[in-house]
Amino acid sequence: MDIVLASNNKHKLKEVRDILYGYNILSLDQIGFNEQIEETGATICENALIKVREIRKHTDKMTIADDTGLFVQALNDAPGVYSARYAGEKATFEDNNKKLLKALENKVDRSAVFKCAIALSMPNGEEKIFLGQVNGQIAKEYLGTGGFGYDPIFIPDGMDKTYAELSSEEKDRLSHRAQALIELKNYLEFIENT
Ligand code: IMP
Repeated sequence: MDIVLASNNKHKLKEVRDILYGYNILSLDQIGFNEQIEETGATICENALIKVREIRKHTDKMTIADDTGLFVQALNDAPGVYSARYAGEKATFEDNNKKLLKALENKVDRSAVFKCAIALSMPNGEEKIFLGQVNGQIAKEYLGTGGFGYDPIFIPDGMDKTYAELSSEEKDRLSHRAQALIELKNYLEFIENT
């Protein structure tokens, strides 16, 4: 079964394809969608819905859109819904990570939560949201070379490594996105079997 993922991020595509094995996951490039979607929602759930609804105007296929935020306690939950553009509209992953490490320079509390919302839009118009979250700590420096985004500075609770130091299989077992994807997978299997 085809599922469109509202992204061209190759790391996300791999994570989604690894967890939703058995489904044919199509990127936005593969369906010929190349417009920019404005993420104007006040929450990650709203942004995931904005993205999925926009893509569904261009395809009849089942579509999923994820939106992620890193919520840092000592910064009143910043960057949160603004995680992609924390250091500015055109910020790179490195710009965002640098800004975050600087903002936490003199803070003792480095706790943070990675939250992921995945919106699903079915061909019949039905919509659902699946959530995943992982508590952790912001590292004092970059550690590891895997993954993307904030991976080199996020240490999930119960581990002594950042996301970027984990293998992709390890990250897929515990990440915020993996948790939301597993909920989604269970739902799809449930409706297929009823
Ligand atoms: P988006 O909502 O998925 O576009 O992500 C918002 C911000 O969080 C972007 O800066 C991403 O790079 C970052 N991000 C999303 N998912 C992850 C992840 O799994 N690890 C690290 N950073 C992520």
